[in-house]
Amino acid sequence: MITTSRPTFPFTRTTKSRIKEVDFSNIEFGKYISDHMLEADYLNDSWQTPKIVPFGDIPMSPAMLSLHYGQSVFEGMKAFKNKDGDICIFRPQKHSERLNKSLARMCMPEIPEDLFIQSLHAIVETDKDWIPSTEGASLYIRPFVFAFEPRLGVKIADHFKFFILTSPAGAYFSKPTKLKVEKTFVRAAEGGTGFAKCAGNYGGAFYPTQLARQQGFDQVLWTDAKEHKYIDEAGVMNVMFLINGKLITPQLTSALLDGVTRDSILKLAPTLGTTVEERRVSVEEIEEAFKKGTISEAFGTGTAAVVSPIATINIDGKDYNLPTAGPESFQQRVKQKLNNIRLGHEADVYGWNYIIHV
Ligand code: COI
Repeated sequence: MITTSRPTFPFTRTTKSRIKEVDFSNIEFGKYISDHMLEADYLNDSWQTPKIVPFGDIPMSPAMLSLHYGQSVFEGMKAFKNKDGDICIFRPQKHSERLNKSLARMCMPEIPEDLFIQSLHAIVETDKDWIPSTEGASLYIRPFVFAFEPRLGVKIADHFKFFILTSPAGAYFSKPTKLKVEKTFVRAAEGGTGFAKCAGNYGGAFYPTQLARQQGFDQVLWTDAKEHKYIDEAGVMNVMFLINGKLITPQLTSALLDGVTRDSILKLAPTLGTTVEERRVSVEEIEEAFKKGTISEAFGTGTAAVVSPIATINIDGKDYNLPTAGPESFQQRVKQKLNNIRLGHEADVYGWNYIIHV
């Protein structure tokens, strides 16, 4: 656990809070942005001191390089109000590490861990009243960096912007999801940018996802780019299966996002008596497991998705259904444990929580 005092960055307070517009009993993911945002420039080869200003539009050039050549990466994180009324930001170091890997892959300037964590602390504490205290809700944190320099030449920018927005969030999916195993389109190939949280990975997924939605599915389950034989991830979440009582998940490659929730669940599983296997998982193996009845659960994991039950997996046009995950299921137990750690009901033996005393 880390506890420090609030960093002092230049601060302009909003003259009119919008918090009363939020219906905290029914929060649609991403609909409301909190009153303030953090903004920093990368200029002359270094990150400048961030400032906190009211959330609002920014002036930009239509020639801004990120619009044309896609230098744009982001993170998705969460803060909670814990049982003592303090603020818990979940695993900021792990998110900092991943953001820097994304930035490096996109030839963008890394953000020192200290600066990143101080920035998170400052903006989350500023808008602490926006952290929901309803069960299952949290403050979603969206740090992002993009090329700001105006230029039409194809080049690595030398002026970047770093922002952090926050947004009260409820459940990402309102019900168990239906996934379609995708064997035509590709999200990412090995050697590409699949492991990076860059904007283009999401934009490229819209079209196949839209087609899947028209067929009644919520998301696609991506397979490897080379053979469409192995399962990768579901775009907004990693996936896990319980087969013969073992927790099985696709191993990380350069085409998969190294999910922070994924990592947390793999660490918690043995403490619940569940063996973990991180390895290649073929579509054929999943289909066989359905036919033999050895698969008991499948679920997605992600910052936004948390632990989201999967109801149906469609393989080559055939729906395979999973039973409803009850309180005794692995996914419900591990989700509970994760929440207990974040909210302070269980000891944070891994040092995942960044606590801000308020
Ligand atoms: C997240 O879980 O933070 C994501 O990035 C998924 C999605 C909301 C883009």
